[in-house]
Amino acid sequence: MISEKMLQGINHQINREMYSAYLYLSMAAYVADAGMSGAANWFEIQAKEEMSHAQRFYNYVLQQGGRVVLAAIEAPPKEYASVLSAFEETLKHEMVVTSLINDLVKVAKEENDNATQIFLQWFVSEQVEEEASANEIIQKLKLVGDAGGGLFMVDKELATRVFTPPVAE
Ligand SMILES: [Fe+2]
Ligand SMILES: [Fe+2]
Repeated sequence: MISEKMLQGINHQINREMYSAYLYLSMAAYVADAGMSGAANWFEIQAKEEMSHAQRFYNYVLQQGGRVVLAAIEAPPKEYASVLSAFEETLKHEMVVTSLINDLVKVAKEENDNATQIFLQWFVSEQVEEEASANEIIQKLKLVGDAGGGLFMVDKELATRVFTPPVAE
């Protein structure tokens, strides 16, 4: 069993993960329109990952005998200043998500909810990876600047990303 406060926090997080998926799908559409099909692939996979995060929280609520409550998902921005800017927005967004996960950990501690604390550890590690991978792409894009050949190479690399569903649910 989980407390009402914990349940509310997790239900809110389901919404934030779904919004993340929506945001990255919007970025995928933007970069696809800008001719960066590799980057579009990267964002589409990112969107799938976010949906799997929402599913993970959803499954956990059910497992704990709680009620999942789904709220409206707001519309993400349609336009971005550049491909680089979309990745910068990605990093910014992931930093916000990291703080949301940390807030959930704080609630779990306050509620003396060990099971949820352990459950959240996967997300704590995941956020470290999320921030690092966005940062790595930003560095590469800054390095190549406006050079068409460089952008082409980065895009080609982003095209190789594949979706691997997280192991444990
Ligand atoms: Fe996520
Ligand atoms: Fe994420």
